[in-house]
Amino acid sequence: MKIVVLAGGTSTEREISIVSGTGICKALREKGHRAILADIFCGLAPDAGEEHFPEEYDVDAAAAFISSFNDKVPEMARTRRSFFGPGILPVCEEADIVFLGLHGANGEDGRVQAAFDLMGIRYTGTGYLSSAMAMDKGITKQMFRMNGVPTPKGITMMKDGIVRDITVLGLPFPVVVKTCCGGSSVGVYIVHDQKEYEEALDSAFGYEDEIVVEEYIEGREFSVAVVDGKAYPVIEIRPLVGFYDYKNKYQPGSTIETCPAEIPQELTKKMQETAEAGARALALEAYCRLDFIMQDNGDIFCLEANTLPGMTPTSLIPQEAAVLGIDYPSLCEELLRVSLKKYE
Ligand SMILES: Nc1ncnc2c1ncn2[C@@H]1O[C@H](COP(=O)(O)OP(=O)(O)O)[C@@H](O)[C@H]1O
Ligand SMILES: [Mg+2]
Repeated sequence: MKIVVLAGGTSTEREISIVSGTGICKALREKGHRAILADIFCGLAPDAGEEHFPEEYDVDAAAAFISSFNDKVPEMARTRRSFFGPGILPVCEEADIVFLGLHGANGEDGRVQAAFDLMGIRYTGTGYLSSAMAMDKGITKQMFRMNGVPTPKGITMMKDGIVRDITVLGLPFPVVVKTCCGGSSVGVYIVHDQKEYEEALDSAFGYEDEIVVEEYIEGREFSVAVVDGKAYPVIEIRPLVGFYDYKNKYQPGSTIETCPAEIPQELTKKMQETAEAGARALALEAYCRLDFIMQDNGDIFCLEANTLPGMTPTSLIPQEAAVLGIDYPSLCEELLRVSLKKYE
């Protein structure tokens, strides 16, 4: 197939997205596809030529071209109107499918998906509405509650309805303050007293006008991919220091990841069923990955759903797939297959 792997973009997760995209593009090439790697925001190289899906292709050179924009992207984003870079939409229209290697805002939040739907461009992952719902942690919480998916108690707060006195919320410390639409743990604060709470409010509202305040769940952390409605093996994530924050997510060696997770069979089953129920609650198609915390007593809480989760060769979903005997290139193809089901 002719495939455009889209990476980069303008979100805080731009750089990790380039790593995901590079891995995916190489894997799809290995499988014999005419895959190319392009930055959705910075666009095609000026010397891209007429043949957009060549037989011979240097993925690393494409990745280096994309990375060369990293420092300039914030300024470009301020001064440019269209999100789509030069040549991107025509090449995506020419492709059989677009593999979305994007993470975070403008990519994972449903807007690219909606635009592509209107243009007849096929893409991997879930559709625009479920993407948007999963991106918003406040809406996710409501959908989970309505569908009996266990999630921490909490509320959504708007900047113009800010509640500085925590006692009004009826949530005892510690609580977690997080931006509604952030990712990669940017804008997530675990707070233990009134002073820390007020500081977290100011920081979180510095990013976004809407935040979530929820109970802190003490326990072990897990994640479960759901592919085509079925849960993959559970993976445990144990940061060596602190919680699963930005540094622990991306600095190699800072977390221990164990798959399959070393928990009793019945808890594995419960978490997998809850992951599938969480995906259904948000109407997530194709694939996604849900994050969990489990208390010592075995109670589990779903924190969120990620609709374009990390897809570097060592990311969580590839580790889960490996336990099923699915290697990384085969996983990339499997994600294409389940995504194409949307168009049947
Ligand atoms: N209610 C909570 N209780 C305990 N830890 C939490 C809670 N919410 C978030 N965290 C910690 O913060 C991390 C990021 O939170 P999450 O809701 O998954 O947002 P994102 O990954 O999109 O930034 C989690 O992986 C976990 O370590
Ligand atoms: Mg998370």
